[in-house]
Amino acid sequence: MSLQHNIEQKNPTPVLSRSNLSQFAWKSRAVLLVALIFVLYSASRTNPIQWWRSIPDSYATEQSLNVFEWSQITPNEELIYHDCGNGMQCARLEVPMDWNNSATSLKIAIAITRIPAKVEVTDPRYGGPILINPGGPGGSGIELLHRQGLQMQQIADYSADTQPVLGDPEKPMPKYYDIIGFDPRGVNNTTPTLVCFPNAFERLAWNLQSQAEGLIGMSNNSVPRAWARAKALGRSCADAGGQQLGHFLNTTPVVRDMVAIIERHGQWRENEARRWLRDQACKNMASTGLQHEDSKRAVIDRTRWIPGREKLLYWGLSYGTVIGTTFAAMYPDRVHRVILDGVVDVPDYYNSSSRSSVQDSDKVLDRLLETCYESGTREKCGLFDPRGPEKIKTTLFSIIDSAIVTPLPIMPSTRQGPQILTASDIDMALHLALYKPLKSAVQLFHALHNLTLGNTSGFADFKRNSMKSDIAGQPESCKDASPWTPECQTSGILDETGSLGIECSDGEDIQDWSQETFNAYWALLNDHSKVMGTRKAASKLMCTQWRLRPKWRYTGPFEAETRHPILLIGNTLDPTTPLNNAHKISRGFPGSVVLQNDAIGHCSNAAPSLCTAKAVRQYFQTGELPSKNAFCEVDEIPFTGPISSSFNVLKTPEEMLLLEASKHMAMS
Ligand SMILES: *[C@@H]1O[C@H](CO)[C@@H](O)[C@H](O)[C@H]1NC(C)=O
Ligand SMILES: *[C@@H]1O[C@H](CO)[C@@H](O)[C@H](O)[C@H]1NC(C)=O
Ligand SMILES: *[C@@H]1O[C@H](CO)[C@@H](O)[C@H](O)[C@H]1NC(C)=O
Ligand SMILES: *[C@@H]1O[C@H](CO)[C@@H](O)[C@H](O)[C@H]1NC(C)=O
Ligand SMILES: *[C@@H]1O[C@H](CO)[C@@H](O)[C@H](O)[C@H]1NC(C)=O
Ligand SMILES: *[C@@H]1O[C@H](CO)[C@@H](O)[C@H](O)[C@H]1NC(C)=O
Repeated sequence: MSLQHNIEQKNPTPVLSRSNLSQFAWKSRAVLLVALIFVLYSASRTNPIQWWRSIPDSYATEQSLNVFEWSQITPNEELIYHDCGNGMQCARLEVPMDWNNSATSLKIAIAITRIPAKVEVTDPRYGGPILINPGGPGGSGIELLHRQGLQMQQIADYSADTQPVLGDPEKPMPKYYDIIGFDPRGVNNTTPTLVCFPNAFERLAWNLQSQAEGLIGMSNNSVPRAWARAKALGRSCADAGGQQLGHFLNTTPVVRDMVAIIERHGQWRENEARRWLRDQACKNMASTGLQHEDSKRAVIDRTRWIPGREKLLYWGLSYGTVIGTTFAAMYPDRVHRVILDGVVDVPDYYNSSSRSSVQDSDKVLDRLLETCYESGTREKCGLFDPRGPEKIKTTLFSIIDSAIVTPLPIMPSTRQGPQILTASDIDMALHLALYKPLKSAVQLFHALHNLTLGNTSGFADFKRNSMKSDIAGQPESCKDASPWTPECQTSGILDETGSLGIECSDGEDIQDWSQETFNAYWALLNDHSKVMGTRKAASKLMCTQWRLRPKWRYTGPFEAETRHPILLIGNTLDPTTPLNNAHKISRGFPGSVVLQNDAIGHCSNAAPSLCTAKAVRQYFQTGELPSKNAFCEVDEIPFTGPISSSFNVLKTPEEMLLLEASKHMAMS
């Protein structure tokens, strides 16, 4: 698929199946939990404010033992949070599946996870929730939250201390934010999920076959084969259980869902504040609990929910910028802070073209090979060649070309069974390296060097992690059940169909494309990019067979006078969201500013940059944008490591923390 092949935004670790034993233990505990939740939930109907806080400690401990399951939460039209481990809170927000017909019984339960702000909502320094999205389409906001949410919070917040700055009205009050990850429609924990297979076994079989088929162009007859598979899959996704979801999982209703999330957050905030004030009154210490010169009245005013007026704070990466741009175009008055990071050419994306996305891809590879060469040694870059970057490139492509003709065996070891390494696998690994050079390129180039010596072991883990191990979780009863039994269609597991559903229904309908039309499109993308063209084209091929069209699809204009200007971030060289895109989108939104992050890779989290982290913090803290044509250096480059000039600059403890957060994001 196209954008969502930023697999880096997904967790590469395979999901391990629970042992039967712990399954059993889990089940009996789950019964208790469900019972408890039910009691608490019933209580919450009469008093929706207090209940989760009144959970006994033992319950909280149980939940932090990773026994949390989304199915324990009953979806609600209001935001009702449940502790779900690691200090996070989870909710399932019920919204109409069809926003144009909200009276129907069809509902979506949006999975939401919150990292609470470091201050209470009643605190004048409480800044509200920052919604995040990792891209894809099909990426899980909740997965991103688990992986980088704390760092995103650290960058947006003042992290050093949460003590109030009192008595200095000149000094702007620091702000502390909730970070909210949500799974958009069709994605991971949000239900219902798109059903394309009768059960987990058939899905696994399909996914393994997809991997065996590999990328188009790597074997003879690959396009007719891919075409036939796309047809079968497209039909299956369209027909399965007469599902409605397929008509309602494009970006437009997701944007409307976000309006619901921020509105319900406003309601939740007001309720929280009232609960807090009541608690303070109970403790008979209202005056000491409140801050200097703050009064009950002020707290109530500050936290009041005014329906229809809640504002968006958002940080979206990659495809997440499609969501952000669409939101800004549809609801410009609600834009308070919006960061578009790794910007998609949104009109081009909705047009099913995706042409502009690959314009810098080959330059990214060239620059990466130059840095390999500049590193100067084979210890730093496995493919280093003293004859220059062109020679390194020749070696790289000859490895791939040779694997097309002769795939290699990966010998079994104590850690894994027999496997083969194909050109398609190497190509996929190369893409990860282009997206996140710092994290992936160093290892890949060592593994490739080992490959030239005939050793495939460096790829064993890569290959294993890329296998879809989603057979886990298949209920025992499904072994003998007839196909398409609802209980067997396990949810919460991601496969490519959710991504496809979003991307294909966002785009123009291209069901009328013939294989010749497709081949011409493929050739065109290949002209633009040798390294990226085929992958982009391959995802479009799937869309030629996608039958489910969206009921409500906003296609522009993507220009508006937003209440507060947008901040766009583009890397100097990005393999799938070129810097140009950021400038193009910026032109539609007066006052918006493009920050150029001098990294190679996809999105600002491809490399640590103190400068960019500071700009993001400034934006969230004060709303202030960088100056026009702002440019930020990065602090580390692939193969050679930290930039020495950046090393030598003395940093404050606060800056060290920021840089650490930024580095964590680049490496995770
Ligand atoms: C759905 O509702 C929105 C406004 O809420 C409207 O702009 C849009 O045209 C409607 N779509 C359809 C298909 O009726
Ligand atoms: C789905 O969400 C869970 C958290 O509930 C997360 O652990 C998992 O990694 C996510 N899966 C994917 C593929 O994003
Ligand atoms: C495809 O088939 C042609 C002959 O029909 C052959 O020359 C070529 O090597 C084949 N390519 C692959 C990748 O098998
Ligand atoms: C996208 O737009 C271009 C030019 O604006 C047009 O020629 C092309 O047909 C469009 N693509 C689709 C799939 O509609
Ligand atoms: C391949 O490399 C690994 C280390 O990465 C080593 O343990 C193994 O013995 C090597 N295999 C061969 C056949 O040289
Ligand atoms: C490459 O091989 C060397 C020597 O066998 C080994 O130390 C190293 O870990 C290997 N690296 C990778 C990425 O496979």
